Amino acid sequence: MQGKKILDKLIIKGQNLLNGEVEISGSKNASLPILFATLLTDKDIILNNVPNLRDVTLSIKLLEYIGKKIEYLNNNKILIRQLSNIKYDAPYDLVRQMRASVLIIGPMFARYKKALVSLPGGCAIGIRPINLHLEGLKELGADIDLVNGYVSVFCKNFLSNKIIKLKYPSVGATENLIMSSIFIEGKTVIENVAKEPEIIDLCNFLNKMGAIIKGIGTSKIEIFGVKKENLKSIEYTIIPDRIEAGTFIILGALASESLVIKNFEAGHIEKFLEKVEATETKIEKLSKNILKVYGNKNIKPVSIETSPYPGFPTDMQAQWMVFMTQAEGKSIIKENIFENRFMHVAEMMRLGANLEIKNNTVLVNGKTELKGANVMATDLRASAALVLAGLVASGKTEISRIYHLDRGYEAIEKKMTKINAKIFRVKE
Ligand code: EPZ
Repeated sequence: MQGKKILDKLIIKGQNLLNGEVEISGSKNASLPILFATLLTDKDIILNNVPNLRDVTLSIKLLEYIGKKIEYLNNNKILIRQLSNIKYDAPYDLVRQMRASVLIIGPMFARYKKALVSLPGGCAIGIRPINLHLEGLKELGADIDLVNGYVSVFCKNFLSNKIIKLKYPSVGATENLIMSSIFIEGKTVIENVAKEPEIIDLCNFLNKMGAIIKGIGTSKIEIFGVKKENLKSIEYTIIPDRIEAGTFIILGALASESLVIKNFEAGHIEKFLEKVEATETKIEKLSKNILKVYGNKNIKPVSIETSPYPGFPTDMQAQWMVFMTQAEGKSIIKENIFENRFMHVAEMMRLGANLEIKNNTVLVNGKTELKGANVMATDLRASAALVLAGLVASGKTEISRIYHLDRGYEAIEKKMTKINAKIFRVKE
C-alpha cells in the first residue's frame, strides 16, 4: 500500500469547457474532531454526511484500534459503537500519517484522565507543534511528559473553574481543550478560541450529546461540566465542506460556462465570496445552499492574506494563487498561518505561472498562459491547486502523489468528470 499509493497519479487534459452541477460532501475538518469526540461516550452514535476520505479512514482505523466498532450504514452514514476494552494510546504509525490524531488527547483526558499519543511530527506545510494544546491541558490539571516521541498525559484531579487564555486561536487546541473540559465540574472558560464553522459543528455535536457549552461561535467559550453518564446516544449530520466548495467555485470562474454548487453553506465562506466578487466573477445565490458561479474571461487581480476565521482561509490560499495566475495584472498573496505553505509555487512555475516568492508573500504576475507538464502533489491543498491549474493549462498535466488529494476531496475525478473535465486516475 505504501509504495502503491505514492505512485497513483492523475492525468488531466486541460481547457475543456466545464458545465453542470457539483454536490459538496461533508466537511473533513468537522468530521475528524467529531469522530474523535465519540471517544467521550460508550453510547452508540450515528453520523451522517461523513465524507469518504483518507483522513476519515485513518481516523476510523485509530478509533477501532482504541476500541470502537464502526459500521457503514450507507456510503456516508456510520454507526459507532464501543467494545469493552479501551486502549489509551495512539501509535506512531497511525499518528504520523495524520496529525489530526492528536485530537484524541482531549476526549481521552476527559474520560480516562490519561492518554499516550505519538507527537505528530511535522508535515509539508510546517512543523505544526501542539504546545498550545499541552499548555491548556496543564491548566486543567494534566501532567505532561514527552517520552520516546510520545506525549504522555496524566491527571490525578481535574482543576475546576479555570480560565484558559489561548495565545493564538489554534483550531486544534480549541477543539482539544473544549473536549477536555466537558466533564470538569463547575465552569471552564477558554478565551481567544478559534471560531471556524468546524468548531461550531463540534460544539453543536457535543451539546446534542448532552454537554453544556455556551458562547459557541464567539472568542470566549464557557463549558459547564456534566456527568459522563449523562451523555446520550445521538444521530448527527456533519456540515458541508466549505473548502471543497471554495475550490469548485474558483474552478467555475476559471474554466466553466457556469457551475451550480449544491449543498454548502454560503455563510461559512463569506470573506472568500467577497474576494471572488471583487474579481468581477458573477455568482448568484440561488438559495442558502445553492450557488451558481459563471466563467470569467476577464478576471480582476485581487490580493489576499490568510487569517483565522472569519478571515480568508489558509486552506484556500493555494487555489487562489492558481486563480490569480489567470487575472489581468499583479496580485499579492500573503500566508500568515503556516510557515511553509508555498510548496505549490515551484510546481505551478513548471506549468508556466509567473510567481515571485519572498518570505511569506508571493507576487503573482497575471495573466500567464499555463502549459501542461508533469507535477507533484506535496500537500492536500497544493494538490487541489494543481488540479485546477491542470484544468486551465493547455495540453496534458500529470499529477503524481495524489494520495495527498484523496485526504480531503471525495471522489474528485467523478465530480470533475460529471462537469465535463477530462481527468482520470492511473493506478500504478
Ligand atoms: C486545522 O489545523 C485544519 N486541520 C487545517 O486544515 C487548517 O489549515 C488549520 O486548522 C488552520 O485553519 C483540521 O482541522 C484537521 P492550527 P490545525 O492549530 O488545528 C500553529 C487542511 O488542509 N500552532 O489553527 O493544526 C501551527 O503551527 C488542513 O484541511 C502552534 O504553534 O491548525 C500553525 O502555524 C491543513 N502551536 C497555526 O498555529 C499549537 O499548539 C495554525 O494551527 C497549535 C498550532
